[in-house]
Amino acid sequence: MNSKKRFWIFTTLMSVFFNTVVFAQSTQIINVDNRNTTTLNGVWKYLVDPYEVGYYDYRRVARDTKDNPDKSEAFFLGYRQEGPSERVEYDFTKADNILVPGDWNSQKEKLFYYEGTVWYYKSFDYNPKDKNSRQFVHFGAVNYEADVYLNGEKLGKHIGGFTPFNFEITQKLRAGKNFLIVKVDNSRGIEKVPTVNTDWWNYGGITRDIRIVEVEETFIQDYYLQLKKGSDDMLEFLVKLNGSNADQRRVVLSIPKADIEASLITNSDGIGRMEIRADRLKLWSPEIPFLYDIQLRFENTRINDQIGFRTIEVEDTDILLNGKPVFLRGISIHEENGMRGGRAYSKEDARILLGWAKELGCNFVRLAHYPHNEPMIRVADELGLMVWSEVPVYWTIQWHNENTYNNAHAQLVDMIGRDKNRASVIVWSVANETPVSEYRTKFLRRLIAEAHQMDPVRLVSAALERHTKPGTDNVQVVEDPLQEYVDIIAFNEYIGWYDGRNEKIKTAAFEIEYQKPVIISEFGAGALQGNHGSAEELWTEEYQEELYRETLKMLENITQLRGITPWILADFRSPRRVLPDIQDGWNRKGLISPTGNKKKAFFILKDYYEWKKKQFE
Ligand code: GCU
Repeated sequence: MNSKKRFWIFTTLMSVFFNTVVFAQSTQIINVDNRNTTTLNGVWKYLVDPYEVGYYDYRRVARDTKDNPDKSEAFFLGYRQEGPSERVEYDFTKADNILVPGDWNSQKEKLFYYEGTVWYYKSFDYNPKDKNSRQFVHFGAVNYEADVYLNGEKLGKHIGGFTPFNFEITQKLRAGKNFLIVKVDNSRGIEKVPTVNTDWWNYGGITRDIRIVEVEETFIQDYYLQLKKGSDDMLEFLVKLNGSNADQRRVVLSIPKADIEASLITNSDGIGRMEIRADRLKLWSPEIPFLYDIQLRFENTRINDQIGFRTIEVEDTDILLNGKPVFLRGISIHEENGMRGGRAYSKEDARILLGWAKELGCNFVRLAHYPHNEPMIRVADELGLMVWSEVPVYWTIQWHNENTYNNAHAQLVDMIGRDKNRASVIVWSVANETPVSEYRTKFLRRLIAEAHQMDPVRLVSAALERHTKPGTDNVQVVEDPLQEYVDIIAFNEYIGWYDGRNEKIKTAAFEIEYQKPVIISEFGAGALQGNHGSAEELWTEEYQEELYRETLKMLENITQLRGITPWILADFRSPRRVLPDIQDGWNRKGLISPTGNKKKAFFILKDYYEWKKKQFE
């Protein structure tokens, strides 16, 4: 142990409401990348089952609710015909291959528009490394609903297309041959989150990594390490142990480059908390995205992580990063790699998308409209890009439906649970463009309050509602009741596209009730890359370029403007966009084409950010 061990403050006082809320509610094992894992990525078998015959019998009774499901038709049993006279109406071993991770739409032409159930099957050998260890199967995400079975036994169901989850499989794994079956259903639903209408492709499948995580009988399931609210030299450190021997256990934290070696003792819930003085910390920022190597030690387990420390606050109409006013030079991004096709999921995908954002001169990205994959957040940490992360509470959610609320809340818990140690994440967003109503505002106020309680050190926002003031031609008013509860007032505006043409931009004015920082979370126009003409001609690069030029000028009139995330970095697939020869199933508001070609507006924004950066240096 380092002799110059920094003096640390050990607080045994368990403040009743310290943010164990996210610990208490989240069952996910975090930082799986740095644990003892066995990947199940690779070639799987799949069967398309639009009538869900593998799950329901002909009376629509779920087969996995019966004592002896009929193995001739219950796909989750992974059976196959053994004798000539046996009737078995499925056989995974003879099915086609599909890659995991990856959506099925971009892998299989026949599944391009498919919405429904696909069964995934993977046989694998497994031999536990230690007879006393425990194993969990961990999914980065499955869109939208997953029913998971190991060796024919149901592990559980997960709902939500963009958040991680894991099921314990200890005692269920056999030494040697096993098989995992996942029923994936990406059907849209009026009561779901998101609901039936979105402006993005409904990619279905096991869209992110899948791994077996092997841990000790009692292990570190979750932990939190960030600067304490309002401090730049006091760390808050929490640990949650999972196992039968979690009470009064010592966990050691070391941060060598900060000369910190500290240890805490867990309580009867297996949760420990302490504050650690850490003066002269090298703070994370877009300019210097410094990440500390940290290590947690518990018994024989070592868990490494890379964590940055910074403060983010609002003060009147300013956003303060490490105490200094910052302007968020952003861009909105969907989780899609247009060049390969389909959902983005890898570090390589993240480096392409965030590399383009850095080329633009961004220090901020709005990851729309759902939690992106973990590599995206890790690469943002490394590259120095602040992140707006959002749950898919999008447009016309079923606000009166308690199940819908619980679904949105669970996705919020798991989004915060996974990324609460990432310096890059500065804003949790609870919604996008949701029509004002009593139920909607109640629903979102609850989510905002939950986000603030689970994570007191980050900002909470949403793309609020804006409308033209009655009796005026072009006064944009933000009267959304939610602006009282968010830390940043954000809204989308499409003057020049959905609202008039480019000449209308010049006369726009804004009335914003609250003196809070303002982010324009979307503006933009469609352009087919390579389609050139006059600046009056829609769908030309010149039209989009002119809209950016005029909008960037006009937005400067909003005195409390502290950031923009124009819509959008790259063209993305959407079933709503069917204009032949121009859209062909793509939303064309990207600054970059699906094949990576930059449009003229890209350089307008790039120049603006170069100018803006100098203003804040
Ligand atoms: C909306 C919405 C986006 C959508 C965009 C558009 O503001 O938030 O998800 O893609 O407009 O119409 O292109």
